[in-house]
Amino acid sequence: MNSPAPKPQGSVDPASPDWWLVVRKFFQHGTTIASFAPSSRFLSRKIVKDIDYDKVRCIVELGAGTGPITKELIDRVQPHTKLIIVERDPDFCKRLRTRFADKPNADIIEGDAAHIDQLLADRGITDVDHIVSGLPLPSFPAEVRDAILASSARALGAHGTFRQLTYMPFIYWRLYLGYFADVRFNIVPLNLPPAGIYVCRGYKLGRAAVS
Ligand SMILES: C[S@@+](CC[C@H](N)C(=O)[O-])C[C@H]1O[C@@H](n2cnc3c(N)ncnc32)[C@H](O)[C@@H]1O
Repeated sequence: MNSPAPKPQGSVDPASPDWWLVVRKFFQHGTTIASFAPSSRFLSRKIVKDIDYDKVRCIVELGAGTGPITKELIDRVQPHTKLIIVERDPDFCKRLRTRFADKPNADIIEGDAAHIDQLLADRGITDVDHIVSGLPLPSFPAEVRDAILASSARALGAHGTFRQLTYMPFIYWRLYLGYFADVRFNIVPLNLPPAGIYVCRGYKLGRAAVS
């Protein structure tokens, strides 16, 4: 199941600020962007907190946008850790590649999160420690959300976490409990509007059932 692809748009001024690019994309693509500003520093730091950067071998970010979370990850990962950044929108990808051009351990892929397991297999990566998602999963059609979470579950090792940001604190807890055995919510009150992070473990449907 592919998520609906963004239609090609006119050229984007590379000097335009991130917030303007996000506003433009929000009005062009609505629910697949679902936010009219990049995530704040508070939110971006919270979603990458409590990761053991000495031990992780691979972290994946889904839906990087202009890269506020990517920056926090890049600042923290050590040379032995692979960072795979997946973003479907070509203009956001261009922005990410320019912004992080001097960061060799970030592999920026223009692709669909619904195929994350295949994108990783193509690169010879078999186990991922954490997936950090800025995707607006609740606003996707259920079959697209199912495909993204199933693909993510196939990519994650048994002890990996799926970390999802939200601008609607607590509201989607039950939704994620439908997919994962253990779902914790951490609020980020300093974000405007208040936001939060779901940290999910133990995908429920099992590898065979989700392909
Ligand atoms: C709410 S924005 C979050 C951007 C950024 N992570 C942040 O926190 O500011 C959602 C991002 O997900 C991307 N996206 C939506 N559907 C996607 C998909 N199927 N695969 C990869 N990226 C996708 C959008 O292009 C957009 O950049």
